[in-house]
Amino acid sequence: MLQRTLCIVKPDAVKKNVQGSIIQKISDAGFKILGMKMIKLSETMGEKFYEVHKERPFYGELVSFMISGPVVVVALEKENAVTDYRTLIGATDPAEAAEGTIRKMFADSKAENAVHGSDSEENGKIEVSFFFAESELA
Ligand code: RTP
Ligand code: MG
Repeated sequence: MLQRTLCIVKPDAVKKNVQGSIIQKISDAGFKILGMKMIKLSETMGEKFYEVHKERPFYGELVSFMISGPVVVVALEKENAVTDYRTLIGATDPAEAAEGTIRKMFADSKAENAVHGSDSEENGKIEVSFFFAESELA
Protein backbone atom coordinates (compact mmCIF):
# COMPACT_ATOMS: atom_id res chain seq x y z
CA MET A 1 0.00 0.00 0.00
CA LEU A 2 1.47 3.33 -1.12
CA GLN A 3 1.72 5.54 1.98
CA ARG A 4 2.95 8.96 2.96
CA THR A 5 5.07 9.69 6.00
CA LEU A 6 6.70 12.82 7.35
CA CYS A 7 10.38 13.10 8.16
CA ILE A 8 11.63 16.03 10.20
CA VAL A 9 15.40 16.38 10.45
CA LYS A 10 15.49 17.85 13.96
CA PRO A 11 17.55 20.88 15.12
CA ASP A 12 20.37 18.77 16.62
CA ALA A 13 21.05 17.09 13.25
CA VAL A 14 20.83 20.36 11.29
CA LYS A 15 23.27 21.98 13.77
CA LYS A 16 25.71 19.14 13.06
CA ASN A 17 25.14 19.64 9.33
CA VAL A 18 24.21 15.99 8.74
CA GLN A 19 20.85 16.67 7.03
CA GLY A 20 22.39 15.82 3.63
CA SER A 21 23.65 12.42 4.83
CA ILE A 22 20.30 11.64 6.49
CA ILE A 23 18.27 12.53 3.40
CA GLN A 24 20.65 10.52 1.19
CA LYS A 25 20.13 7.49 3.41
CA ILE A 26 16.34 7.88 3.18
CA SER A 27 16.54 8.25 -0.59
CA ASP A 28 18.83 5.20 -0.92
CA ALA A 29 16.26 3.17 1.04
CA GLY A 30 13.75 3.72 -1.78
CA PHE A 31 11.63 6.57 -0.43
CA LYS A 32 10.36 9.10 -2.95
CA ILE A 33 10.73 12.73 -1.83
CA LEU A 34 7.45 14.52 -2.58
CA GLY A 35 8.43 17.80 -0.94
CA MET A 36 11.20 19.25 1.20
CA LYS A 37 11.93 22.53 2.97
CA MET A 38 14.12 24.01 5.67
CA ILE A 39 12.16 26.09 8.17
CA LYS A 40 12.34 27.36 11.72
CA LEU A 41 9.20 26.37 13.60
CA SER A 42 7.38 29.02 15.60
CA GLU A 43 6.38 28.16 19.16
CA THR A 44 2.74 27.95 18.02
CA MET A 45 3.59 25.47 15.25
CA GLY A 46 5.76 23.37 17.59
CA GLU A 47 3.02 23.23 20.22
CA LYS A 48 0.38 22.35 17.62
CA PHE A 49 2.48 19.66 15.90
CA TYR A 50 3.20 17.89 19.21
CA GLU A 51 -0.25 18.45 20.73
CA VAL A 52 -0.68 14.64 21.09
CA HIS A 53 2.15 14.71 23.64
CA LYS A 54 0.70 17.65 25.62
CA GLU A 55 0.21 15.63 28.80
CA ARG A 56 3.61 13.90 28.64
CA PRO A 57 6.28 15.14 31.09
CA PHE A 58 8.71 15.92 28.23
CA TYR A 59 6.27 18.11 26.22
CA GLY A 60 7.75 21.51 27.21
CA GLU A 61 11.30 20.32 26.67
CA LEU A 62 10.34 18.75 23.33
CA VAL A 63 8.71 21.92 21.99
CA SER A 64 11.65 24.12 23.13
CA PHE A 65 14.08 21.76 21.44
CA MET A 66 12.10 21.61 18.19
CA ILE A 67 12.01 25.40 17.88
CA SER A 68 15.64 25.91 18.94
CA GLY A 69 16.94 26.01 15.38
CA PRO A 70 16.04 25.22 11.78
CA VAL A 71 14.63 21.83 10.81
CA VAL A 72 14.23 20.15 7.42
CA VAL A 73 10.75 18.75 6.78
CA VAL A 74 10.51 16.07 4.11
CA ALA A 75 7.31 14.54 2.74
CA LEU A 76 7.98 10.91 1.78
CA GLU A 77 6.10 8.30 -0.22
CA LYS A 78 6.68 4.56 -0.56
CA GLU A 79 4.96 1.20 -0.20
CA ASN A 80 4.53 0.70 3.58
CA ALA A 81 6.30 4.03 4.15
CA VAL A 82 5.25 4.44 7.79
CA THR A 83 6.66 1.17 9.13
CA ASP A 84 9.65 1.04 6.78
CA TYR A 85 10.71 4.58 7.67
CA ARG A 86 10.42 3.89 11.41
CA THR A 87 12.59 0.78 10.91
CA LEU A 88 15.13 2.94 9.05
CA ILE A 89 15.31 5.57 11.82
CA GLY A 90 15.44 3.10 14.73
CA ALA A 91 14.25 3.31 18.36
CA THR A 92 13.44 6.68 19.99
CA ASP A 93 16.47 6.31 22.28
CA PRO A 94 19.66 5.97 20.18
CA ALA A 95 21.12 3.76 22.91
CA GLU A 96 18.43 1.22 22.01
CA ALA A 97 18.49 1.78 18.24
CA ALA A 98 19.77 -0.98 15.95
CA GLU A 99 23.15 -0.70 14.20
CA GLY A 100 22.97 1.18 10.91
CA THR A 101 19.77 3.07 11.78
CA ILE A 102 19.66 6.85 11.40
CA ARG A 103 19.23 7.47 15.13
CA LYS A 104 22.08 5.08 15.98
CA MET A 105 24.33 6.95 13.54
CA PHE A 106 23.29 10.55 14.17
CA ALA A 107 21.30 10.97 17.42
CA ASP A 108 22.77 12.16 20.71
CA SER A 109 20.04 11.30 23.20
CA LYS A 110 16.44 10.16 23.60
CA ALA A 111 15.30 13.80 23.48
CA GLU A 112 17.67 15.07 20.77
CA ASN A 113 17.28 12.16 18.43
CA ALA A 114 17.98 13.55 14.94
CA VAL A 115 14.71 12.71 13.18
CA HIS A 116 10.95 12.51 13.51
CA GLY A 117 8.73 9.91 11.86
CA SER A 118 4.95 9.62 11.62
CA ASP A 119 3.55 6.78 13.72
CA SER A 120 0.55 5.65 11.62
CA GLU A 121 -0.78 5.83 8.08
CA GLU A 122 -3.40 8.36 9.17
CA ASN A 123 -0.87 10.55 10.97
CA GLY A 124 1.44 10.34 7.95
CA LYS A 125 -1.25 12.05 5.85
CA ILE A 126 -2.12 14.56 8.58
CA GLU A 127 1.53 15.48 9.25
CA VAL A 128 2.42 15.87 5.55
CA SER A 129 -0.50 18.28 5.14
CA PHE A 130 0.53 20.13 8.32
CA PHE A 131 3.64 21.34 6.45
CA PHE A 132 2.77 21.11 2.74
CA ALA A 133 -0.08 22.26 0.52
CA GLU A 134 -1.04 19.52 -1.97
CA SER A 135 0.15 21.86 -4.76
CA GLU A 136 3.69 21.84 -3.30
CA LEU A 137 4.06 18.06 -3.56
CA ALA A 138 5.69 16.49 -6.61
P1 RTP B 1 9.06 11.03 16.85
O1 RTP B 1 7.60 11.22 17.15
O2 RTP B 1 9.89 12.28 17.01
O3 RTP B 1 9.31 10.34 15.54
O4 RTP B 1 9.66 10.04 17.95
P2 RTP B 1 9.06 8.67 18.50
O5 RTP B 1 7.74 8.38 17.86
O6 RTP B 1 10.14 7.65 18.38
O7 RTP B 1 8.87 9.02 20.04
P3 RTP B 1 7.61 9.69 20.77
O8 RTP B 1 7.26 8.82 21.94
O9 RTP B 1 6.55 10.03 19.79
O10 RTP B 1 8.24 11.03 21.36
C1 RTP B 1 8.36 12.18 20.58
C2 RTP B 1 9.69 12.82 20.83
O11 RTP B 1 9.75 13.37 22.14
C3 RTP B 1 11.09 13.31 22.61
N1 RTP B 1 11.14 12.50 23.81
N2 RTP B 1 11.83 12.86 24.86
N3 RTP B 1 13.04 12.97 27.41
C4 RTP B 1 12.29 11.91 27.08
O12 RTP B 1 12.14 10.96 27.81
C5 RTP B 1 11.67 11.90 25.76
N4 RTP B 1 10.87 10.95 25.31
C6 RTP B 1 10.54 11.34 24.06
C7 RTP B 1 11.94 12.71 21.52
O13 RTP B 1 12.46 13.77 20.72
C8 RTP B 1 10.91 11.91 20.75
O14 RTP B 1 11.34 11.65 19.44
MG1 MG C 1 6.17 9.81 17.72
